[in-house]
Amino acid sequence: MIDTNNFLLRNLWYYALPSHVLKPGQMVARTFLGEPVLLTRRLDGQVFAVKDICPHRAVPLSCGRFDGQEVECCYHGWRFDPGGHCVAIPSLLPEQSMDLSRFDVRSYPVYETQGNIWIYIADGDNSQTSDPAKEIPVIPGFSEQSPELVEVMRFPCFIDHAVTGLMDPAHSPYVHRVWWWRAGELHEEVKQFDPSPYGFTIRRHQLSESMGRLYWLIGGGLPEVEISFRLPGVRVEEITLGKHRVCNLTAVTPISETETDVTFALYGIPAALKIFKPLMYLLVRQFLGQDRMVVEKQQIGLKHDPVLRLIKDSDMQAQWYYQLKREYARALSEKREFVNPVKSQILRWRA
Ligand code: FES
Repeated sequence: MIDTNNFLLRNLWYYALPSHVLKPGQMVARTFLGEPVLLTRRLDGQVFAVKDICPHRAVPLSCGRFDGQEVECCYHGWRFDPGGHCVAIPSLLPEQSMDLSRFDVRSYPVYETQGNIWIYIADGDNSQTSDPAKEIPVIPGFSEQSPELVEVMRFPCFIDHAVTGLMDPAHSPYVHRVWWWRAGELHEEVKQFDPSPYGFTIRRHQLSESMGRLYWLIGGGLPEVEISFRLPGVRVEEITLGKHRVCNLTAVTPISETETDVTFALYGIPAALKIFKPLMYLLVRQFLGQDRMVVEKQQIGLKHDPVLRLIKDSDMQAQWYYQLKREYARALSEKREFVNPVKSQILRWRA
């Protein structure tokens, strides 16, 4: 039995959007945790984020213009720099001096790395930001390279259901019934788990032959895999095949209480396989689409507010997620260090 604790964690870095979506001189409007946010990229390449509501009469700033330096509201032309500072109110006469900083828009810390833009969503009254270099997971071995394949899909659910689906080993034989992923029959799996920053890691292990034909397509024999998960919903999978390293970042971002974006980014597609990129896009969309479809069905039952029951060991990762989330919220409210509730252990299941 679990208490789903339907709350959204704040004071964390969330995945915002793939870097390539925001070109120099452009702006993009998004919603994160129910907050309207305007992301801009200055002509020099730097990314900013501010609340997408004009402080004058609440028109979204994204309805206005961005010239690569300043955002101009479409209603009365107030202008803001990308950091949210009000820099001009055209209706003021020269002698009508005014402290424009009273009209600044809330800005959000952003951090761009490895082809991804992350945003820090704090509590309204909290201006502190944790160090992004420590808090944002690094895709190992890819320096500042961008992913070669990115797919973002919106799931019609609260974040918890997207995350627990992401870390659920038992659903694959039923939800992902495709020839290239698994043969269909169930096999026993034994995995060693260890605590890692704000989450846990499945210790590096060799995939069994039954784990799927997808990896055979990539080539190089049986790969070794390490998978880590951390709050608020970020999974990094590192697959080593001989001299090749393929990494997959999956990040879950709550848009609102009823919608969640799942971003899948793939790094290190072997050169010989790049010709298959269009096919890989199709497969990734199919894979994510299958997860979305089952989440849509789940919403039918969740409307009745049932008590959800999780079992050992295949649901342990979901249980850890809820424990991690509650501990993060408690540590914040008690102003103390986060204590990872996950302990090293072996889990076994059939999948
Ligand atoms: Fe934005 Fe008036 S509403 S300038």
